[in-house]
Amino acid sequence: MARVALVTGGTRGIGAAISKALKAAGYKVAASYAGNDAAAEKFKAETGINVYKWDVSSFDGCAEGVKKVEAEVGPVDVLVNNAGITKDGAFHKMSVEQWNAVIGTNLGSLFNMSRQVIEGMRARKFGRIINISSINGQKGQFGQVNYSAAKAGEIGFTKALALENAKGGVTVNAICPGYINTEMVQAVPKDVLEKAILPLIPIGRLGEPEEIARAVVFLAADEAGAITGSTLSVNGGQYMV
Ligand SMILES: NC(=O)c1ccc[n+]([C@@H]2O[C@H](COP(=O)([O-])OP(=O)(O)OC[C@H]3O[C@@H](n4cnc5c(N)ncnc54)[C@H](OP(=O)(O)O)[C@@H]3O)[C@@H](O)[C@H]2O)c1
Repeated sequence: MARVALVTGGTRGIGAAISKALKAAGYKVAASYAGNDAAAEKFKAETGINVYKWDVSSFDGCAEGVKKVEAEVGPVDVLVNNAGITKDGAFHKMSVEQWNAVIGTNLGSLFNMSRQVIEGMRARKFGRIINISSINGQKGQFGQVNYSAAKAGEIGFTKALALENAKGGVTVNAICPGYINTEMVQAVPKDVLEKAILPLIPIGRLGEPEEIARAVVFLAADEAGAITGSTLSVNGGQYMV
């Protein structure tokens, strides 16, 4: 029987590439999103993948959303915690709203989502939790104290949850993308991209969303049971740890 995968923020950007790659690999996929109904409907029409709307920073919203996914698609075998936001600004000007929104959506969501599925995974003795962190959680980034803290927190969350579940067939891993060719990066002016960003990347180009998706499919596989607590960098050689 096909395994069930749930991808948060799975309707746009990197998440959409992950949802499509998991479907192509034979998974039954559900993709969640926050509020961009037009993008979600377009994604659903193009891929045939079921979409669900809830806020991953709300524990109750996640409980209700996962319940619906499990009733319609099946118990979740693979959870990809991909949904994330940025609200950049120098720390000495950062508001508490900027802090709370980024911590809640990027890091709080890992508790809110993983808590809904972990008991079922443990009972079935199989599970894959894959957290999409960031190079900026590994190395820090100017103007992103909130985002770097959340993304570094994701790595700690990954390691501790991996330890707790190592004996039960449930693996927990993190992927740290570098600069990826998404709408956000495409909006950067061409000369800034060419003069300031590309020279930092040894492979000389941006990563593609499909290259993050490939790493997810690798970690999600039944055959990847010995890989747990790891942090996989997909950053073109920009930062090596
Ligand atoms: N792009 C990069 O270069 C890069 C680099 C390193 C790490 N990352 C990480 O990779 C992940 C995906 O990034 P991306 O660039 O693909 O993002 P994106 O294009 O902005 O898409 C974000 C997705 O997350 C959803 N989302 C945002 N806030 C949410 C919330 N509160 N509840 C539920 N869903 C929510 C969005 O839903 P709506 O469509 O409804 O808004 C959308 O589907 C993020 O965790 C990001 O931090 C990205």
